[in-house]
Amino acid sequence: MSKLVVAVVGATGAVGREMLKTLEQRDFPATEVRALASSRSAGNTVEFAGGELTVQELKENSFEGVDLALFSAGGTTSRHFAPFAVKSGCVVVDNSSAWRMEPGVPLVVPEVNPDAVDAHKGIIANPNCSTIQMVVVMKPLHDAATITRVVVSTYQAVSGTGQKAIDELESQVRKLFNGQEPEPKVYPYQIAFNCLPQIDVFSEGDYTYEEIKMIKETAKIMEDPSIKVTATTVRVPVFYGHSESVNLEFAKPITAKEARAILAQAPGIQVYDNPAEKMYPMPIMAAGEDEVFVGRIRQDTTVENGLNLWIVSDNIRKGAALNAVQIGELLLSKGKLGV
Ligand code: A2P
Repeated sequence: MSKLVVAVVGATGAVGREMLKTLEQRDFPATEVRALASSRSAGNTVEFAGGELTVQELKENSFEGVDLALFSAGGTTSRHFAPFAVKSGCVVVDNSSAWRMEPGVPLVVPEVNPDAVDAHKGIIANPNCSTIQMVVVMKPLHDAATITRVVVSTYQAVSGTGQKAIDELESQVRKLFNGQEPEPKVYPYQIAFNCLPQIDVFSEGDYTYEEIKMIKETAKIMEDPSIKVTATTVRVPVFYGHSESVNLEFAKPITAKEARAILAQAPGIQVYDNPAEKMYPMPIMAAGEDEVFVGRIRQDTTVENGLNLWIVSDNIRKGAALNAVQIGELLLSKGKLGV
């Protein structure tokens, strides 16, 4: 391949920086990487491959000569700029929710529905972080015993909201230890030493938009709208790593032992489950790692065929940056990128 130019849109943000790190760590064969962000950051630098990239202001003509653009700059920016990128002949992998449910836009988790990328018309959507880690675990279990219903409760880290929320948790903790009032700016209430059962705005039936995303995106990625999903999503004072309590009901019998064996063979998953040794996944062990960790796998004895699981993954990595870079790798392996 003679040329492969990659642009990271939102390169100064929590996910954008991780995208740059992931491209470097996985030796993505880019011949050039461009860092794009708002005019506020133009001229600043971001770290890449042992050096620095100068941030350029995102403009409608920023995509000339770019083959792949990884967007993580919010839905409004994606809605406006992704079509200009596509017009320049660039493939967009978008991390916002702007395009995810659009017909004709594939919503892809490479371990689950890799062939969905084939139908893309320029934009491929990266799913919501909570959805990604759940479907990576659901897929092999669904293939084995057909999932009929999912009840999920999430414990989501502040990094999912972006750099401002990471800074807010840190400053609130400092303030509280110094006897000062913590000021909530990013979230409606104090997040330090608290849990907020609201992620995104309230919508249909008093579900939050985050909960609706988990329900709708799961149906699209699993390509099976018959799987019933209900969700409660909660923001917790953790910096990196989303945790999920997931209850699954199946059409066919499946034991906890069988599920453990199936998951141990599945791509992108690490089973970490030994109650006798107090082994279970936690955000502090998942942070910075690529895998989706699963533990606390046990039978739900209140239904005919049911399992309870605890799923933890780094929301910035597999939940965002890594999944986006893996989509780029998938396109490369299918010969659909670069010249
Ligand atoms: P900037 O740092 O210049 O504001 P996070 O999710 O961590 O808050 O990061 C959001 C990312 O999206 C940042 O890189 C931010 O750039 C970028 N961004 C936000 N709004 C725009 C915009 N209108 N045009 C380009 N980049 C944007």
